[in-house]
Amino acid sequence: MTHLLHRSIHTPPRHAVAAKGLHFTDSAGRDYIDASGGAAVSCLGHAHPDVIAALHAQLDRLAYAHTGFFTTDVAEELADTLIADAPEGLSHVYLVSGGSEAVEAALKMARQYFTETGQPQRRHIIARRQSYHGNTLGALAAGGNEWRRAQFKPLLMQAHHIAPCFAYREQWAGESDAEYAARAAAELEAKILELGADTVAAFVAEPVVGATAGAVPAVGDYFKRIRAICDKYGVLLILDEVMCGMGRTGSLYACEQDGISPDLLTIAKGLGGGYQPIGATLLSQKIYDAFAQGSGFFQHGHTYMGHPMAAAAGLAVQKVIRDDKLLDNVQAMGAELRHQLHAAFGQHAHVGDIRGRGLFQAIELVEDRQTKAPFDPSRKLHARIKAEAMARGLMVYPMGGTIDGVRGDHVLLAPPFIVTAADVAEITGRLAEAVNAALQP
Ligand SMILES: Cc1ncc(COP(=O)(O)O)c(C=O)c1O
Repeated sequence: MTHLLHRSIHTPPRHAVAAKGLHFTDSAGRDYIDASGGAAVSCLGHAHPDVIAALHAQLDRLAYAHTGFFTTDVAEELADTLIADAPEGLSHVYLVSGGSEAVEAALKMARQYFTETGQPQRRHIIARRQSYHGNTLGALAAGGNEWRRAQFKPLLMQAHHIAPCFAYREQWAGESDAEYAARAAAELEAKILELGADTVAAFVAEPVVGATAGAVPAVGDYFKRIRAICDKYGVLLILDEVMCGMGRTGSLYACEQDGISPDLLTIAKGLGGGYQPIGATLLSQKIYDAFAQGSGFFQHGHTYMGHPMAAAAGLAVQKVIRDDKLLDNVQAMGAELRHQLHAAFGQHAHVGDIRGRGLFQAIELVEDRQTKAPFDPSRKLHARIKAEAMARGLMVYPMGGTIDGVRGDHVLLAPPFIVTAADVAEITGRLAEAVNAALQP
């Protein structure tokens, strides 16, 4: 009997009672290795002493202050820390409580930028199919996951979608990475011209696609081309790094590896590592100046934005990542994870692709490796893998609909940045057992 509306009414979740490092304990005393950080959240693992101490200290000092009345040292310091390492041109931070809120703020900032600068006709948002930007109505409208959008479509604002840059599924045989990157990016230019170049406000994309497609980075110079197209037509570029940002791919900001800077950038998950709900929208000096020289404010706000406890968690997590040089471990253990995944699944008859960056890796399941044909969706292979993994004390993040929102299955791995080579071996070993068990008829 429960009074909670759980995510699945017919499959109630297990009951967590404690967590430390990489391990969860449930109410039956069973142990689980957290190889997905929940949903790519717990970047430091659980119960990190520095974060706990920072939260205790902040609670003793100041738990809450409404941002309509006060700023706080901790929120200011977190913004300074984020901007110190941010991609070129990003100058200010808007602190919110999660990823969807960060995306909503970015969409509204883009719109307000154009009303402040005398281009009120710019209203269209372009995004990519097979992307996820959150579940609030604006973020859901921007997202390109058909299954999540379908029943809510009548409530969604209009948004336009182009193809993702998804090499395993969409690169033609014999097409080079450079040719494919050019073809995929050209879709953006075509869509802008179709809508009317001076009517488009923003293009939104995840540098490494997370939940919907399974750790899919772009190929070649795709994002450099995207940046150039946005600049050519005066369209703002919003990069959604809610899942792939904050070190997950081996650089603090994922777009560093693509060699570009966005106009707006969203982060969440790894920002606070799960110790508090926190997200942020980073904006460029250009957008800040438009607000400053225009109305003097961004017309938005939430009761809990800039929450001191959330900021304290974010600041403490980011300090540990820097002080302990954890990005080095993300790179080293990311390579190790890739190596182990190739050893376990490289020749597997039903694993078509192994992909990702850093500690953000995925395998894609296929019925037939030659044709890349997926399993029948009614088989719910992804759900079976999750159940078999949990039965073996392993938390991974499988998802269906990899190809088009309905067909395809993948398993996403996003272990904490403190993972060791021995942990990686244990994770891939248990995952291989779970996959093989789930594939039994
Ligand atoms: C890329 C991306 N954007 C936005 C969101 C939404 O974040 P939240 O669930 O914190 O609202 C997610 C969540 O998975 C995400 O992966």
